Amino acid sequence: MAAKSSIDLIQEPTIAPAKGKLGVMIPGMGAVATTFMAGVEAIRKGIAEPIGSLTQMGTIRLGKRTDGRSPLIKDFVPLASLNDLVFTGWDIFEDNAYESALNAGVLEKELLNKVKPFLKSIKPRKAVFDRKYVKMLDGKNVKKGRNKMDLAEQLRADIRDFKKTSKVSRLVMIWCASTEIFLKQGPVHASLEAFEKGLRKSDPNIAPSMIYAYAALMEGVPFANGAPNLTVDIPVMLELSKRNHAPIAGKDFKTGQTLMKTILAPGFKARMLGLNGWFSTNILGNRDGEVLEDPGSFKTKEESKLSVLERILQPELYPKLYKDFYHKVRINYYPPRGDNKEGWDNIDIFGWLGYPMQIKVDFLCRDSILAAPLVLDLVLFLDLAKRCEELSGLGIQEWLSFYLKSPMTVPGLYPEHDLFIQMMKLKNTLRHLRGQELITHLGLEYYD
Ligand SMILES: NC(=O)c1ccc[n+]([C@@H]2O[C@H](COP(=O)([O-])OP(=O)(O)OC[C@H]3O[C@@H](n4cnc5c(N)ncnc54)[C@H](O)[C@@H]3O)[C@@H](O)[C@H]2O)c1
Repeated sequence: MAAKSSIDLIQEPTIAPAKGKLGVMIPGMGAVATTFMAGVEAIRKGIAEPIGSLTQMGTIRLGKRTDGRSPLIKDFVPLASLNDLVFTGWDIFEDNAYESALNAGVLEKELLNKVKPFLKSIKPRKAVFDRKYVKMLDGKNVKKGRNKMDLAEQLRADIRDFKKTSKVSRLVMIWCASTEIFLKQGPVHASLEAFEKGLRKSDPNIAPSMIYAYAALMEGVPFANGAPNLTVDIPVMLELSKRNHAPIAGKDFKTGQTLMKTILAPGFKARMLGLNGWFSTNILGNRDGEVLEDPGSFKTKEESKLSVLERILQPELYPKLYKDFYHKVRINYYPPRGDNKEGWDNIDIFGWLGYPMQIKVDFLCRDSILAAPLVLDLVLFLDLAKRCEELSGLGIQEWLSFYLKSPMTVPGLYPEHDLFIQMMKLKNTLRHLRGQELITHLGLEYYD
């Protein structure tokens, strides 16, 4: 680590070293998960670069601008090395990670063949699944149990089995499975006692994703939620996360159109430009797109996508600019596009004296290519949080909002959606963890 400046007086929190292997457990071995796993192996073999990953490519400035200290983030905080990652997953289909990656059609066959033995060795465990929660899918690789508690016990046994057989010293679970139907928080989610009673009675308000999260947190394993499901956004999970020192982060990977929104909207607000309307539509043809054809799953996604602009633009503070803007989000399943989504935005803004202007964005993106580095960073940072005395018992890791469409916060606190505020929050958290001065960008000291 680089030397500290003379004004650093902050006590460094204790962080255990990243010793031994880190097990990555992924419910949902579809497009995102296999693009992530294949990518890690390709990077380990030196045939590709970890583009898009802040933990692998990002630097962090320390001290004054004139100090010239900007180490790589991975050299500044003790993260697990890519060579120490070991993988397992669950899916309702029996395809191994190689077959699933071929089917997802994100990566070229030539690249996949270079990591084929590795991918073929990752076979999905039987999933906890119920069609009530994801109507468009059906598969055979599914666990059977007397009730939801029995299924949770089976998942806990999977976690212990993986830990033993793969000889890892630590674990992280990250949800990369399909979007479930929209669920609201209810009494069964309010406490551990109510939730466990609900599991034994197979309460319909407990979705499969919650059973995975419960199993992980009961085993003290950090959990990240890459989908917009309610999953860990309920009091019982916060209680368990804190009690068992298993950090949580969610929800919904911030990629594609929402990433663009959280880059553009802060710019409009910074310049006090008004907004009349923002119409967003997408075509995509992967399995995720197919699942989102179901109105129940789409509603979950829609809620996650819509909240972003309200929060960034703060109409309550700027009624003349943002009081009544019209915001619409559409997702259309269009098979020929596969994973290569196209997202259009029509943005009606207004400027000086109310004069209208328009901006059109046409983003020809690749969903899983944008999501895979986020999976990597969330895994590595959650493992860091677990090893850090100050963070492990906090529950929600708000500093990871940077990666998520609907960042979790403690009840009553509004989330930060602005990508640049999120970035500053993340980097200042890392500085704080290493006892370094926080960067405020004040800059007056250069003119003394
Ligand atoms: N790619 C992105 O840019 C992006 C962004 C934000 C969120 N997401 C979310 O990430 C998730 C994964 O996306 P994807 O493109 O890989 O989808 P996908 O359909 O390719 O993969 C999801 C996999 O999960 C499996 N699955 C469904 N329910 C399961 C269960 N209960 N247990 C185990 N496996 C289960 C499915 O069989 C499928 O193989 C989706 O929820 C998606 O909404 C993706």
